[in-house]
Amino acid sequence: MNINFDFTGKNFVIVGASSGIGKQTAIELARSGANVLAIGRNIERLEQLKNICPTQIFTMSLDVIDAEQDDWAKLFSNFVSAVGKIDGGVYSAGIVGLTPLNSFDRELAHRIFDTSFWGMINFMQSAAKKKFSNVGSSFVLLSSLAADFGTKSLFAYSAAKAAVKAAVKPIAKEIIRNRHRINTVSPAMVKTDMLGNITYEDEIGASEISRYLLGLGKPEDISGLILFLLSDRAGWITGQDFPLDGGYLLD
Ligand SMILES: NC(=O)c1ccc[n+]([C@@H]2O[C@H](COP(=O)([O-])OP(=O)(O)OC[C@H]3O[C@@H](n4cnc5c(N)ncnc54)[C@H](OP(=O)(O)O)[C@@H]3O)[C@@H](O)[C@H]2O)c1
Repeated sequence: MNINFDFTGKNFVIVGASSGIGKQTAIELARSGANVLAIGRNIERLEQLKNICPTQIFTMSLDVIDAEQDDWAKLFSNFVSAVGKIDGGVYSAGIVGLTPLNSFDRELAHRIFDTSFWGMINFMQSAAKKKFSNVGSSFVLLSSLAADFGTKSLFAYSAAKAAVKAAVKPIAKEIIRNRHRINTVSPAMVKTDMLGNITYEDEIGASEISRYLLGLGKPEDISGLILFLLSDRAGWITGQDFPLDGGYLLD
């Protein structure tokens, strides 16, 4: 059975759309009729994405670490002038890196945190504004199972993802004044560029992989839930977290 959403005439902003989960979500939203502003740093990959749905996908290169409030405001202002106010957005930008307590690279740890957390706060500050978003807009942020479960040498990533999840509840209470909703999605391991060219069995271990009763995740295993949360069918859901784990947590 196929479930198809109709987002015709709706407008969304996807941050971290040049790859992985964000890219898959951008494609599905565009194919469901939405106008999508796809944001990332890699212009070439953004162009490839635009070529998939040239009339629906707009692109903008932006580094969320450097972007100031004015940059976000300008970006929203331009998109809103072109297509109208947004109906929601997805914040999927994130990087991962090892930060062992004894010998971690502080600059890397800050980049991990800034990309997932402070970038998201800057995004939401503009996105939730009445002048940029229609009443009842829906936002989805990418947290991670790593927010709740320890992986050695991953404290910066885990803390950043936990911060995203924790911030959603107070933000939900603020943005309800415009009837906006916001939720997090927390995947376990999904095969994307984020983990680079690792050979999963060798580097993660066959026994760890075997905990995924449904196999490792693919971007399309996550995007379905994101589209649902963006849709009116999720109109009674806000401030919640949704783990997606392929059976990993059953052990
Ligand atoms: N893959 C997993 O196993 C997994 C599991 C749980 C949660 N997550 C979370 O899901 C989200 C998406 O991950 P993914 O697996 O789809 O990763 P991905 O394929 O590496 O995509 C990450 C996206 O973030 C963008 N990005 C990174 N740094 C940025 C910056 N400074 N400014 C603007 N954009 C930036 C990248 O675009 P550019 O390179 O073009 O800038 C890319 O579009 C992340 O937040 C991640 O933490 C992933």
